[in-house]
Amino acid sequence: MNKTDLHEFRDSSFDFRLSSFAFRTALKYILVVFSFLSLGPRLVVAQTDLTGFWVLRLPTGDGNYRETFFDLKQSGDAVAGKVLQGARELPISEGTFKSGHLHLVATVRFQSVERQITYDGTTEGTKLSMTVGFPGRDPVAGTAERTSPEAALPPPRLPLPALHDVPDNGLARTPPMGWNSWNKFAGKVDDAAVRGMADAMVASGMKAVGYTYINIDDTWEGPRDAQGNITTNRKFPDMKALADYVHAKGLRIGIYSGPGPKTCAGYEGSYGHELQDAKTYAAWGIDYLKYDWCSAGRIYKDEDMQAVYQKMGDALRSTGRPIVFSLCQYGRAEVWKWGPKVGGNLWRTTGDISDNWKSLENIGFSQFEIAVFARPGHWNDPDMLEIGNGGMTADEYRTHMSLWALLAAPLLAGNDLRNMSEETKSILMNTEVIAIDQDAEAKPVQVISRDGNSVVAARLLQDHSTAVGLFNRGDQAAEVGVNWSALNVAGKKLTARDLWKHQPVEATGDRYTASVPAHGVVLLKVAAGP
Ligand code: GLA
Repeated sequence: MNKTDLHEFRDSSFDFRLSSFAFRTALKYILVVFSFLSLGPRLVVAQTDLTGFWVLRLPTGDGNYRETFFDLKQSGDAVAGKVLQGARELPISEGTFKSGHLHLVATVRFQSVERQITYDGTTEGTKLSMTVGFPGRDPVAGTAERTSPEAALPPPRLPLPALHDVPDNGLARTPPMGWNSWNKFAGKVDDAAVRGMADAMVASGMKAVGYTYINIDDTWEGPRDAQGNITTNRKFPDMKALADYVHAKGLRIGIYSGPGPKTCAGYEGSYGHELQDAKTYAAWGIDYLKYDWCSAGRIYKDEDMQAVYQKMGDALRSTGRPIVFSLCQYGRAEVWKWGPKVGGNLWRTTGDISDNWKSLENIGFSQFEIAVFARPGHWNDPDMLEIGNGGMTADEYRTHMSLWALLAAPLLAGNDLRNMSEETKSILMNTEVIAIDQDAEAKPVQVISRDGNSVVAARLLQDHSTAVGLFNRGDQAAEVGVNWSALNVAGKKLTARDLWKHQPVEATGDRYTASVPAHGVVLLKVAAGP
């Protein structure tokens, strides 16, 4: 046997031994790998169990971050718990964490519509890189990291002042008229849009018929500086300069905040900074403040609202600048009874309006009973106008304007004033309808009759004439009528005018009947005498 053979033999025996060793070793590894694979996910889970509190920071695109908290409980692949968005707790209806990928679904109910928000995340070290999907919106990406349960809680409750009556500021003797950014622009409002609206308010003729305020709603806010002063975000580089611009047009400018730590859109609120913020607004030249409850509800109860709003009422007054005070707490705690006492010039009486008939109908026809609480300087506010935003017919928008006028509601346009159709202009700038809204006596509207889909409501005006709206809530055109006797003008010679057709109507006989289009109105002004 030569060396080579030996070698070969040895090699072969070695090979045999090697292969037998290799076989055993391989088997061992296979077993290890197998057991790793079967146990692996459990081991990985043990290392990255997501159970606990997380905070997700989503960029808002203007330099701010919106925080969402997660209280997660993981068991195997399944993840349960809740999503905490400000005051809202959304239960997680679906949750998995597989191979480092988190998938959560939470259901949010808004104005009785349910929507599903999805959260998809992958682990990156100790953090989660997450994408949030909301129906109808572009997905937004951000980073989540672990936090304590306390971080999701609101700050401690601050003591409230004893109640007293804030003196009347003498403003808003008739319902405020102007424009507000929220209905059309929501989070997209910026300096350029506000300047554009001021220009358009003048150019369109709206200023000439009484519209005055250019109101910036939520999402102008930046963080607080080292001294606690509120700043603007990058959509509003210089609020003072913007106010100067609006003032130079002969208009006034409004802003938005809330008594809670966060506004409804999750921006910085005035909590604990009321006086400081009021001074900042005054220094910028602000003429109007909408003050929105939202996250204050996590700290205070409804019965605290009067004291909470009084704090800002006092703060605004102490600045010495005339600032209209607009309360926004959705008509809770019978605000119409104490709104004037906190220095309120107007108070929201309902939840948010939307640009559709159901929303308009629900809000508009449910306001008559509280009309008696409106008076010069202090107005019920059934929310801003949707006229011209495209979700309703012209007849529906005429109903919107007519109802708001009869209710002596603030007329705050919520559309893009830079490109209004002639029809939209004719509705927003109907001076005969505006005159009813702005009537100096502000006598409460009264329901004359309700019959199926027909509603007749009337309001006595300062010049002793009566404005009467014949409304048809039905889906088909219908005849709606009123007996002149119901208006206390019977037996007299009457003149009547149709305020949408801008023409006189025949006012002989005992009764007037009109064909009113679906969801429409015939609005008359009736006077005794020639
Ligand atoms: C609330 C108000 C709205 C608007 C938004 C802004 O929903 O009712 O009018 O101000 O907040 O976030």
